[in-house]
Amino acid sequence: MAGRILDGKKIGAAIRADAAEAAREFARSGRPPGLAVVLVGDDPASAIYVRGKIKASREAGISSETHRLPATTAAPELAGLLDRLNRDEAVDAILLQLPLPDGLDASEFLARIRPDKDVDGFHPENVGRLVAGLPGPCPCTPAGIMEMFRREGIEVKGSRAVVVGRSDIVGKPLALLLLHQHATVTLCHSRTRDLPAVCREADILCTAIGRPAMVRADAIREGAVVVDVGMNRAENEADVRDFFGDDEKRLARFRRNGYTLVGDVHPVAMRERSSAYTPVPGGVGPLTIAMLLANTVALAVARQSDR
Ligand code: GUN
Repeated sequence: MAGRILDGKKIGAAIRADAAEAAREFARSGRPPGLAVVLVGDDPASAIYVRGKIKASREAGISSETHRLPATTAAPELAGLLDRLNRDEAVDAILLQLPLPDGLDASEFLARIRPDKDVDGFHPENVGRLVAGLPGPCPCTPAGIMEMFRREGIEVKGSRAVVVGRSDIVGKPLALLLLHQHATVTLCHSRTRDLPAVCREADILCTAIGRPAMVRADAIREGAVVVDVGMNRAENEADVRDFFGDDEKRLARFRRNGYTLVGDVHPVAMRERSSAYTPVPGGVGPLTIAMLLANTVALAVARQSDR
């Protein structure tokens, strides 16, 4: 079986179009929705993500601002910036890009963001709302995956879902969202015994572990839906051949750039064993950005109706 591609670019574009429409509607109140992104330090991957987020928000009619702070930023300075953004009436949504540099405790600063401006849903109050099944902002990647299931007609109710990776950003919230949609959920991690056997139970297999092609054919049930959140660099030719076989285009790209991207799931196994799968890149990534826009507009609307 060759699984159908769950095209994150296409689905993301549809979510973005809806967010843009909602942003236009909101702007009739006198100003566009406002997003503030805070980037501390010089993690190259974070810088790329933030550029993508800002570009997408501008395209959707969201007014955005980036605050770039050096890696040497002291805690009171970052706290002061967040306090200012919390007070700024034109800022509806605040995103503190993670990871923070060593020495800055992410949990302290995530808790400092006003819960009603917390676009990632990482504030403890919003985490609690998610656990309790109450409305509130939901982490963008898991929310994007659930929105993809909805738009693609993938039945979650009654399914066996296995989530590999227990991060606060993806694994934990995704497991909760699947549970709220009536899946039977198993949340796995690095200490899970016989991980492939657990994964093989899955009708819906989601991976967010950051290990290149670690999940192989023996972990994928024939016909499963596979959602690969991983975005890893393969940096040597033997790995690239192992992961992609003799895909000459991929090898050429690898030789040109010195690396190629691969998810957490072996790409050939994923394509051949699944009924549907998210490619890497072009699967989950665009959904995350799309949901950031949707969350920003939703926060703007919610704050407006609270006034
Ligand atoms: N770093 C990696 N993913 C994310 C995300 O979804 N939100 C934030 N704030 N930082 C991230």
